[in-house]
Formats: sequence, structure tokens, C-alpha cells
Amino acid sequence: MRIDILSAIPELLESPLNHSIMKRAQQKGLLEVVVHNLRDYSTLKHKQIDDYQFGGGAGMVMMIDPILNAIKSLQKDRDYDEIIFLTPDGTILDQKIANNLSLKKNIILLCGHYKGIDERLREHIITKEISIGNYVLSGGELPAAVLVDCIGRLIPGVLNDETSALSDSFQDDLLAPPVYTRPAKYGDWEVPSVLLSGNDAKIDAWRHEKAIEKTQARRPELLRNKEIEP
Ligand code: ADE
Repeated sequence: MRIDILSAIPELLESPLNHSIMKRAQQKGLLEVVVHNLRDYSTLKHKQIDDYQFGGGAGMVMMIDPILNAIKSLQKDRDYDEIIFLTPDGTILDQKIANNLSLKKNIILLCGHYKGIDERLREHIITKEISIGNYVLSGGELPAAVLVDCIGRLIPGVLNDETSALSDSFQDDLLAPPVYTRPAKYGDWEVPSVLLSGNDAKIDAWRHEKAIEKTQARRPELLRNKEIEP
């Protein structure tokens, strides 16, 4: 899978995408992430990419030209399945959207800044608009990094233990059950004995029960449309 990210501050994306699982995914050739500086696509003298908004008001707007130049230049080399704009007024990212996007081949992510991008790009060019939550960040770079991480770990072969993505919280609309490691007894704190029993069926049943309990307590809305198997 290839992800091209268009950004006004590409430096913000360097660290999050070049460590740990994202680094491994790229080294294994399963994921290619290329970050482009939007200023490189400005045809103006000072590499300007934003301008005042029509009608007045505080805040600049990202211009059509540099963004469209960047997208057209990328489209010369390959077809893109999605051109996604990261914006606080987009659809809230969830595991279902991430699962879906992880099946795509080529994606462009556009990071917003200032007041956003010229609306005509949203009408004619952008295919999906995604928010990472109901709060406003300074720009779309951190949301883009969140999205790449979330999608990247779902690509088959990226995680060592393939089942571990399947047992993540939200993967089946349940929060993940509690986990423990050594020592089995830390002072008075003991690991639930079923986990030490070696009985896989009992352990699975215990985990399922704990996942339901936790989801019921913290995120009951996730259970509403779900038929729970005993
Ligand atoms: N840009 C600023 N805030 C954002 C958010 N919450 N999600 C996506 N893009 C953003």
C-alpha cells in the first residue's frame, strides 16, 4: 500500500512514521509513505500556499493551485483510490473506516491548516473527509499520522502476530480484556488464576466475559447493536 501525504509542515510527520511498527512495515515493503511539501507546488514567488478569505474574516485559506498541482503530479504516476482531507468537521475515524482503508492500494492524505482549504477542492477533488475526534488541532499532520498508524498496522504481515490486530479493542465492537505479565504475584496483587490454568477454552471464555463487562461499563453504546454470544 502506498500513502502520499501533502503537508505544509512535513517535518511534523518525520518521527511518528519512522519508528516501531510503521518503520517495520516500510522496511518490509508492505507500506510506502511519501511526504510532500505543499510549498514545492506553489507557483508564487514566496512559495505561498494560503490567501485571505473572500468575504473577510480572520484566518487564511489554503489555495487551490498548490494542492491541485501536487495531486495532479501524483496522479501522473498512479491511480488513487481515495483523496482524504483531514479536518475536524469530517467523519469521525473508527475501526471500521480504518479496516476499509487498509484494503486500498494508493491513498493521498491532505493535511489542512489555517481556516482550511478552498471549498471547491472539497466539492470536486476530495473523496473522503476524516476527523480523529471532536477537538481542534493546529493542523492535519498529527491526524494524518494517527490515520497512517491505524491503517498501517492492519495491513496483513505488518504485525508479527497476525491475530493481535484482530484482538485489539474495537475490532469486534468490544473493548479489549485486561492483560497481565510476570510476576504472577506482585505483593498482594495477583493475576486472575484462570490465566495460569493452561485451559485455553476457559481463558477464551474469561477474556470474552471481561471484554463484555468492560464495554458495558465504559462504552455501552458499542453493545447496543451487537448480539452477544454467551
Ligand atoms: N485538523 C485539526 N483538528 C483535526 C481533527 N480533530 N481531526 C482531523 N483533522 C484535524
